[in-house]
Amino acid sequence: MSEKSYLQIARAAYQPKLPKALQGPVRVIEGAATHSVGNQEEIKALFPNTYGMPVVEFAEGGQSSAPKFNVGIILSGGQAPGGHNVISGLYDGVKALNPENKLYGFLMGPGGLVDHKYIEFTDALIDDYRNTGGFDIIGSGRTKLEEVDQFEKGYEILRQLGIKALVIIGGDDSNTNACVLAEYYAAKGYGIQVIGCPKTIDGDLKNDQIETSFGFDTATKTYSELIGNIERDCNSARKYWHFIKLMGRSASHIALECALQTQPNVCLISEEVEAKEQSLDDIVNQIACIVAARAAEGKNFGTVLIPEGLIEFIPAIKKLIAELNDTLATDEAKAVAREDQIDYVKAHLSAANLAVFNSLPADVASQLALDRDPHGNVQVSLIETEKLLSKMVGKRLKEMKADGKYVGKFSAQHHFFGYEGRCAAPSNFDADYCYSLGYNASRLIAAGKTGYMSVIKNTTAPAAEWIAGGVPITMMMNLERRSGKMKPVIRKALVELDGAPFKYFAAHRDEWANETCYVYPGAIQYWGPTEVCDQPTQTLKLEHC
Ligand code: FBP
Repeated sequence: MSEKSYLQIARAAYQPKLPKALQGPVRVIEGAATHSVGNQEEIKALFPNTYGMPVVEFAEGGQSSAPKFNVGIILSGGQAPGGHNVISGLYDGVKALNPENKLYGFLMGPGGLVDHKYIEFTDALIDDYRNTGGFDIIGSGRTKLEEVDQFEKGYEILRQLGIKALVIIGGDDSNTNACVLAEYYAAKGYGIQVIGCPKTIDGDLKNDQIETSFGFDTATKTYSELIGNIERDCNSARKYWHFIKLMGRSASHIALECALQTQPNVCLISEEVEAKEQSLDDIVNQIACIVAARAAEGKNFGTVLIPEGLIEFIPAIKKLIAELNDTLATDEAKAVAREDQIDYVKAHLSAANLAVFNSLPADVASQLALDRDPHGNVQVSLIETEKLLSKMVGKRLKEMKADGKYVGKFSAQHHFFGYEGRCAAPSNFDADYCYSLGYNASRLIAAGKTGYMSVIKNTTAPAAEWIAGGVPITMMMNLERRSGKMKPVIRKALVELDGAPFKYFAAHRDEWANETCYVYPGAIQYWGPTEVCDQPTQTLKLEHC
């Protein structure tokens, strides 16, 4: 391990808090049989061995030790603060059940399972990574686990290492794969349990059962610190409009949470753009009008937050992407050389979608047409929407000036915050939440569960009052169109326009646009008064308090 900072050394001594129920032996309480959120007959047919299982909750009392067993763990997808604490929580939980138990980590994501690349965790290694950000303890990757051949190769190494359960830490796609794997191993009678764990800074893996995905808290606090610093700079120099794109893939939870923390002049919410059927021009006009109104009062500065998935939610572009996805999913398209792909898609698009495609700047059009991640998602983090919008707003303002509707100066700065927050040292919330999720997973394994997600609820209360348990992954599934086919997937949670966080934002945004109401949250604090160090996100507070 590399040289440690003073903060890292001090932080290593932090003992994450656990829910009361997990502090000693646990008892399993099972609820009623469950159903999937959609397409119940189809999901039941696809998951005959793992469908309909009950939600479980742990209470104090019961089993305190278990016969020896080994566990494997995988970090899947994008980094999120707290991953190392899930691993240390699982390690401590597994060792508390039986000190002879072993925990193995598969290297660089699901690919490590298939390629048989792994390490065994030791006390010293785990201690080096407690309460640190990043996924570097074993690395992460985006290999999609979906082929029988991969499942069998995985089984080979799991059997060799005497592993009884595999924990997959991931977002909606990775947990969907965890569920498919759980079903496959159950159907084959291999006796290997698979448990998922809700990770993603995007905040879109949440539902009635999952209050928040881990990493969202730390990532949004990190971005909000940076946005607050920019706002203060902006309010000091009073000469720039800052266009700030924020990660989050499709959903706008990150942008919304950062807006609630920092009160910028504009924050776009992709889900609202879609609901109002806004075009790119509508969005540009909306921003230009706010710039002009502020300029009329001598305020030639401001901040604009842009969710990275915005472009996908503009209805005309969404239709175009859907057709592009289907066009690119065919074997014929896959055989086309990369340099010929733009011409290929142009030749196959419908007239309406071709017109939209041709209206986009060439770089944006080619990003939409070419780049997909292994799950078939458009790589929105590569599209420079912040520059596209500021350029178009500048052009619109020139027209308004010519019409006598704008007096002022417009000068833009651009930022993209994403990678800056994904490996930050976890906040107290994420340190405790992740440790609890990992520890809890060890209890789900001991209870013999498979196809479950480790879940901790009541997270706006102090950690001791958190509720620990598990939710069948099939319960969160429905069928969606992916790469041209209907597939069972965990339903992604987008920003709800009738939800409390959006409503609060909508009730305040006009004031934030016209006045200068910036809030400067400052850096994440690990020690100090509880109101400074232990606040959950505004989203969680508005949704659950
Ligand atoms: P996960 O959904 O895997 O947690 O990843 C989230 C994310 O950070 C998105 O916000 C972003 O669009 C994407 O990963 C970037 O991917 P990559 O790390 O491959 O550049």
